[in-house]
Amino acid sequence: MSPSPDSLTLDAVAGNTVSAPPPRRLTVAIVGATGAVGAELIDQLERRHFPVGELRLLASPRSAGKGLTFRGNPVVVQALSEDAFDGVDVAFFSAGASISRQYGPVAAAKGALVVDNSSAFRMAEDVPLIVPEVNAHAARAEHRLIANPNCVAAVAVMALGPLHRETPIRRVFAATYQAASGAGAAAMEELRASTAAYLEGRPYTPQVLPHPYAFNLFSHNAAMDPQTGYNGEEQKVMDELRKLLEAPQLRIGITCVRVPVLRAHAIALTVEFETPLAAARAREILAGAPGVRLVDDAVANHYPMPVEASGRDEVLVGRIRQDLGDPSGCSLSLFVVGDQLLKGAALNAIQIAETVVRR
Ligand code: A2P
Repeated sequence: MSPSPDSLTLDAVAGNTVSAPPPRRLTVAIVGATGAVGAELIDQLERRHFPVGELRLLASPRSAGKGLTFRGNPVVVQALSEDAFDGVDVAFFSAGASISRQYGPVAAAKGALVVDNSSAFRMAEDVPLIVPEVNAHAARAEHRLIANPNCVAAVAVMALGPLHRETPIRRVFAATYQAASGAGAAAMEELRASTAAYLEGRPYTPQVLPHPYAFNLFSHNAAMDPQTGYNGEEQKVMDELRKLLEAPQLRIGITCVRVPVLRAHAIALTVEFETPLAAARAREILAGAPGVRLVDDAVANHYPMPVEASGRDEVLVGRIRQDLGDPSGCSLSLFVVGDQLLKGAALNAIQIAETVVRR
């Protein structure tokens, strides 16, 4: 008889299961449990058979007493407080940077492994920023706080990481097509409600995002730095890709755009490498990369699409082609799409915890 999934150690990176003694049941907290990422964290813990003994669902006082479900059992949401971290082994944070700044160090000091989905600690020198398929080695046993990258950086690095290992990347040009989910559950609802209003000819005043969202797109809503002309989202992606790829000098430029898609981000990339890289070789590398699925069918004109990436763990990669603007053969263009709530947030966070717990 094969062992039950809960008695296995999950090897998230290789996608293998390895026989091991049953892991200790862990007390797990989710901060921001009622949000869009929070819902996916609960689902991922269940689907990946994370060894949860007790689950504490934490949110703002507005949600205290609300009932959610884990493994078919009701769990009552509690208001976030310092005491809520007593006895917690692993705490996932997804309630924004200021909540992480206030409570993340408290949870870590109480002995929890903190996996933070916010931007609060990502660029701190002593905090690893991890996408397990790319840089699991950077998370060591002594780290009690590990940062989960920005969703665009996490999705893009799934394609860039394996290529960078083949021949170092010199320069990246990127343009994004970002879904509503990146701005939270309320923005997803705004997309639904404003689209319905548009189709019914009713007026709709945006509540969450700064511009009309139905049948429209706009430059990412993060504040712009007048010195550089880049918005906060663009700066995060540039900084974080350098950290994830361990390439501090990487030359990178990006334009981030919000599009009326519910939950998967798309990214157009043009990448210059130190040495020539043939499209066929890049395709071969990405076809074998963990967590990546090649969708690159020129005959059927079938390439990565948000509707096919939504709800999927894998990042879809396609349109891999030589960049004709660089006759040296050192540049490729490609198109990458990944579920913002999964690889861009909840899935990657759980994989980080699995990587550390497994050691
Ligand atoms: P709540 O639902 O009680 O407001 P999203 O990113 O989808 O907008 O979700 C944000 C998450 O962060 C929600 O779970 C939200 O809880 C939580 N949150 C927001 N403010 C606080 C706060 N002050 N304390 C704890 N959780 C918070």
